[in-house]
Amino acid sequence: MAFGPIMQFEVGNLTVQLAPFTRDETQAFIAGLQRESVTRFLEIGPQTIESEHAWFDKVQSDPSSVTWGIWVIEDGERKLIGNSAIHHLERAHIHQGTTGSAITEQQYWGRGIASAAHKARTWYGFEKLGLHRLRSAVIQGNIGSRTALERSGYELVYVERNHRFAGGKLRHMDNLECLNPAEWAWSQWWNGERPTAAAKRARVRTQVTLDWARANVTLL
Ligand SMILES: CC(C)(COP(=O)(O)OP(=O)(O)OC[C@H]1O[C@@H](n2cnc3c(N)ncnc32)[C@H](O)[C@@H]1OP(=O)(O)O)[C@@H](O)C(=O)NCCC(=O)NCCS
Repeated sequence: MAFGPIMQFEVGNLTVQLAPFTRDETQAFIAGLQRESVTRFLEIGPQTIESEHAWFDKVQSDPSSVTWGIWVIEDGERKLIGNSAIHHLERAHIHQGTTGSAITEQQYWGRGIASAAHKARTWYGFEKLGLHRLRSAVIQGNIGSRTALERSGYELVYVERNHRFAGGKLRHMDNLECLNPAEWAWSQWWNGERPTAAAKRARVRTQVTLDWARANVTLL
């Protein structure tokens, strides 16, 4: 599938789009990805234009992922500030994918962009791709990422101890999931078993996310 279609929404006074980008536009990510403060909790290290082009070529031809650039439109200028994706799409008995995202322009951190972008992505994954489940993993200490995911409906499933050395110490990794709250997907996932109390609370958060997206995300 490679790239996802344009989704537009407002975050404060910013217009944000999740939209495709070109091979040359990956240049926008490099300055950020060469900073330790940006890659500290990522699975990748510093990047160059060559590695970004190689990544783009992989993304463009990957039928099992949907990728978007995160764009902001500010003062009439459209600027690429990061990316977001659903990878490893599987359509066996359970339809699912793994999500990841990075805002490489640090001046846009803490403004609610990831929280809103996750909500739009979750909506797309459940209502346009028909997935049952989204997974994600966050190194402990990455508070912005953990908060944004939880807010859009993700819930902790298990912790992998001592996954990475980052920011001066060994860190555990939180493995999260977000379940499609629609009755058809929910009942297939739980398959006669009782959902946990945490899963039920997360279902309500996900329903709120989807309601927000239906009201606020324009699929162009
Ligand atoms: C993680 C990341 C995507 C978060 O994006 P963001 O747009 O800054 O997130 P939001 O603004 O939606 O913030 C979510 C919440 O976390 C809080 N938060 C953000 N950064 C924080 C930090 N460093 N410490 C504490 N809280 C933080 C925000 O205040 C917000 O909570 P609030 O609405 O109650 O105030 C962004 O920081 C990033 O791209 N980091 C580098 C790459 C990365 O780590 N990607 C994720 C890998 S799992």
